[in-house]
Amino acid sequence: MLPSAGERQAPGVALVPGGREVRMVGRIRPGGRQARGGRGERARGTVAAAPERVALNGRIAEFYDESSGLWEDVWGEHMHHGIYREASPPKSHTAAQVEMIDEVLKWADVKNVNRMVDVGCGIGGSSRHIIRKYGCTSTGITLSAVQAARANEITAAAGLGDRGKFIVADALDQPFEDNSFDLVWSMESGEHMPDKRKFVSELLRVCAPGGKIIIVTWCHRVLATEEKELTPPEKLLLGAVSSVYALPDWVSAEEYKKEFAALGIQDVRVEDWTADVAPFWTAVLQSALTVKGLRALMSVGPTTWMGALAIPIMRLGYQTGLIKFNLITVQK
Ligand SMILES: C[S@@+](CC[C@H](N)C(=O)[O-])C[C@H]1O[C@@H](n2cnc3c(N)ncnc32)[C@H](O)[C@@H]1O
Repeated sequence: MLPSAGERQAPGVALVPGGREVRMVGRIRPGGRQARGGRGERARGTVAAAPERVALNGRIAEFYDESSGLWEDVWGEHMHHGIYREASPPKSHTAAQVEMIDEVLKWADVKNVNRMVDVGCGIGGSSRHIIRKYGCTSTGITLSAVQAARANEITAAAGLGDRGKFIVADALDQPFEDNSFDLVWSMESGEHMPDKRKFVSELLRVCAPGGKIIIVTWCHRVLATEEKELTPPEKLLLGAVSSVYALPDWVSAEEYKKEFAALGIQDVRVEDWTADVAPFWTAVLQSALTVKGLRALMSVGPTTWMGALAIPIMRLGYQTGLIKFNLITVQK
């Protein structure tokens, strides 16, 4: 059951897409209960976010509110790239997406998970897979009320309702206590974050000592030493992608490293898996051109149509080496 507009925000929401500010009355503990702030504790989210951030969040929410049903119909529960390594045998796209989660966890050397936060959770595909794999709990946050409702619905139907819950909340102002989670997971949401320093500092804040932060995200290429910025055609291409997929300015993986370093974290592992995901956007294009894909597209609105039109631009971005699929991990 999808929520009505009036039910848009979950308790603890910091900022509602569309511009309304919601005051937090406390923080949410990993188990899902809301904790009242103690004396002297500032309730997160009581300070109005910058108008540009409110506007961007509104566009992100609108994009995913409108397009998530279509994506689920055509592609299923995972809203991220699959992994297609040359040596591995052909597999379904869903299997490639699940393999992505497993390979990322292996790469980051994640052995056990008790409590995870799924930052930018979509409809909860990563959470459910990781809950099953490690027997942990997960709290997912998304800006889309439609996604949060659907994620809770699928998770309950899968019999995991006591382990996974999903709420509308802003990754830049998370309604959680410090040190709450031993796995902080962000699969393809970092590219939406307009303030990378704040993003990274929130991930660090909610991560428990010894816990892992994993960010899998779209970046632009790392600039050469003599370069000051991307070329005008490159900026044009990224601008087109950003306007369609509701993204702020892009950064390179080096800039993530700098943000962590500014917060005192030097040991940041970064890897480029662009080659491993190369077939993904061609597959998305092919799926959009099937009868099912075209029918599904007809049933949604212009925001999603523009998303489909941008698929060739993404392919071009990867082919020219401008867009990178990066993994970043840190142990707190
Ligand atoms: C491409 S989807 C990825 C979904 C999910 N991680 C997956 O792999 O299936 C991007 C997600 O990031 C979320 N997102 C973007 N900006 C956000 C923010 N500031 N706070 C919380 N979630 C955000 C969107 O709502 C959406 O759920």
